[in-house]
Amino acid sequence: MGRLAGKIALVTGGASGIGRAGCELMAREGACVVTADLDTGGASVVASGIEAEGYIARACRVDVRNSQSVREMVAFVIAEFGQIDILFHNAVSVPLVNNCDRRITELPEETWHQIVDLVLNGTFLTAKYVAQHMLSRKAGSIILTATVDALIGTAGIDAYTAAKGGVVSLTRSMATGLSPEGVRVNAICPGFVATPHQSVFMDKPAEREKIERMHLMGIMSPEDIATFAIFLASDEARRITGGIYTADSGYTAFKSQIDLASVFQR
Ligand SMILES: NC(=O)c1ccc[n+]([C@@H]2O[C@H](COP(=O)([O-])OP(=O)(O)OC[C@H]3O[C@@H](n4cnc5c(N)ncnc54)[C@H](O)[C@@H]3O)[C@@H](O)[C@H]2O)c1
Repeated sequence: MGRLAGKIALVTGGASGIGRAGCELMAREGACVVTADLDTGGASVVASGIEAEGYIARACRVDVRNSQSVREMVAFVIAEFGQIDILFHNAVSVPLVNNCDRRITELPEETWHQIVDLVLNGTFLTAKYVAQHMLSRKAGSIILTATVDALIGTAGIDAYTAAKGGVVSLTRSMATGLSPEGVRVNAICPGFVATPHQSVFMDKPAEREKIERMHLMGIMSPEDIATFAIFLASDEARRITGGIYTADSGYTAFKSQIDLASVFQR
C-alpha cells in the first residue's frame, strides 16, 4: 500500500517542475491528486498522464493571487473528493523572478508588488482557505515550497528573497497556531532544481558549472523535492510541524570550498 493511500492531495503549480513531480509521485503513493495551476492546459496534461498510469487525478485552474479563484479551487477539491488532506504549494512564475527581479536599488516598485503578490499573498490565500477546511476536520498537512534564498543572502533577487522569507516566517506562525488542532505546516527550502524554466541557466555551460560547484551532491531534480514532500505529507511525519527544511544538495552547509583538511594535512 502506498504511503499516501486514501489521502487527497492538492498541488498548486502542479503543471510544471516541482509541483508536477509532486502530483505524479503523490499519485503513485496512493493519493487522489488535484493538479491546480494557472496553466490549465499544462494541468490537464499532468492529470491525464497520471490517470493513464491508472491513478486518480483531476485538473483545476487557479490563480493563487485571486481570493475568489483560490476559494473555487478549494470548493472544487471538496466537491470532487470530499476533503483535502495535503496541500503542496508551489505556484510561482519562475520567469517573472528570473527576468524581472533585481537588487533593491534597481528594483522597480511594480516588480516588487508583482512578486510579493504572487509569492507571499498567493501563499497567504492558498494556505488560508485550505487551512480553514483542514481545521474543521482537525487534520491535514500543509507543505509550502520556500527556497534557500530565504535563508542565506543571494544578490539580485530582493523581491523574491523577501517574499519567500515571509513564507518561512508564516510557516512557523501558522504551525504554532494550527498544529494544536491537528494541522501540520512545514516548508521545504530547495537549492537549485533542474526544472524546465531553469534551463536558462542549465543551457549555459559556465553557469551550469558554477551551480554544480555550489551543490555538493549534484543539481537536484524535481523528484528530489517531491519525495521529501511525500514524507512530510505522510503519517510517518505525524509529529513533524513548524519545520523549515533545506533540500539543497549541501548548498547551505558550506561558506566556501576551501579544503582546510588538506591545507593542514589532517
Ligand atoms: N526550480 C528551482 O530551482 C527552485 C529553487 C528553490 C525554490 N523553488 C520554488 O519551487 C516552487 C516550484 O518551482 P518550479 O521551479 O518547479 O516552477 P515551475 O515554473 O516549473 O512551475 C511553477 C508553476 O506555477 C504556475 N503558476 C505561476 N503563476 C501562478 C499563479 N498565479 N497561480 C497558479 N499557478 C501559477 C506556473 O504555471 C507553473 O506551472 C516555487 O515556489 C519556487 O519558488 C524552485
